[in-house]
Amino acid sequence: MNYLEPHLFQYSDTQGTRSFREEIAKFLTDYARAAKALNPEHITVMNGCCAVFATLSTVLCDPGDGYLIPAPYYGGINSKTWLYGGIQPVHVPLSSEVTDEEGHPFQLTVEKLEAALQSAKKQGIRVRALILINPHNPLGDIYPAQLLKECLEFAHRYELHVIMDEIYMLSVYDDTTFTSVLSLDCLPDPERTHFMWGFSKDFGMSGIRVGVLYTRNHEIRKAVNQLAVFHSCPGPVQHVLSQFLRDRDWLDNVFFPTNKKRLKEAQNILVDGLADVGIPVLKSSGGLYVWADFRKFLKSQTFEAELELWQKLLDKKLLISPGKAFYCYEPGWFRLVFSNSVDIIYLCIQRLEQMLHSYAAEPVTNNTSSTADALCNPEKDSSGKPSNTQGKDVSQLKNILVY
Ligand SMILES: Cc1ncc(COP(=O)(O)O)c(C=O)c1O
Repeated sequence: MNYLEPHLFQYSDTQGTRSFREEIAKFLTDYARAAKALNPEHITVMNGCCAVFATLSTVLCDPGDGYLIPAPYYGGINSKTWLYGGIQPVHVPLSSEVTDEEGHPFQLTVEKLEAALQSAKKQGIRVRALILINPHNPLGDIYPAQLLKECLEFAHRYELHVIMDEIYMLSVYDDTTFTSVLSLDCLPDPERTHFMWGFSKDFGMSGIRVGVLYTRNHEIRKAVNQLAVFHSCPGPVQHVLSQFLRDRDWLDNVFFPTNKKRLKEAQNILVDGLADVGIPVLKSSGGLYVWADFRKFLKSQTFEAELELWQKLLDKKLLISPGKAFYCYEPGWFRLVFSNSVDIIYLCIQRLEQMLHSYAAEPVTNNTSSTADALCNPEKDSSGKPSNTQGKDVSQLKNILVY
């Protein structure tokens, strides 16, 4: 695996070496339960999914165009799509409220997509794409096959490109069925449906920087491959990962069962510990985190109070991401990552319990909002572009790194 032939140190195909793309095609065909074998020619390898987002959105859209994205979402997408392409998110706000029609908190529906699209049109924003993260970051939700199909049909009706980010595809536990877009045998608009996956999450290798784009659209691939020159993945890395993907015996019988078992164990410990502290979490079966409801610990139901709580958590050495960093429309939600050792999770719960206990005893000070007001910058967000969120943005959020 670690023996490197001299040719690996030379320039090679910027789309990714043929042998690596062949291994990825076989791997994704099997693990995404693809409807038919993936074509290695339809694959582009880059240095991470961030690079895939940046290049693909630049190719699909013109500056000023928008893409629909259900909020909350992995906030890193904003800067990836803005810095190269000047493209803006058009949020599809999701609410935690459960109604007769919507049995699940933060449920996405086609009606919500439709409403966001129409509202963007009224504001003069040309929407070119829909981005879906499945399994979702930060919610941990998995889209049921039916909803996924409805979203694809919606996008087809409006000739929108769909970017399916399935970077957590194999970090699914319980007996939940995950439906990859690759597994659907009849896509409403195959030429406008693009899939991405990477090594950062499912293999816990975020430092190796490898992301994969699969698109059947020849013109788009041609353009993306031009930009891939700036984002190529080193030959030795591609070689090592090819060997890695080929070891099916180890992946099937050791790595994936162990990884899933550990993730589930860690999730259980965290969810039970949070329940003891009085923090409910959204039920989820995918991802490396839980989406937790801290609303009752906020001094007021505002993003300023959320930021204050986040700062107090940080002071106690608890790095827990606030909902605002994910463009959540309701203050008080936080994402906690559990892909860590059991000892660390217990320590986290212990610190949380102590911190919340003393925080609850603190009197509510009226200077919360005035301090936060001083930090507010309603016009720009951390990527330096219009934030497209309701209410005030908090400039201090630029210091929050979310993955
Ligand atoms: C949903 C999602 N997509 C993409 C990325 C970026 O992945 P990469 O490390 O491959 O650039 C992340 C990282 O946190 C993520 O959560």
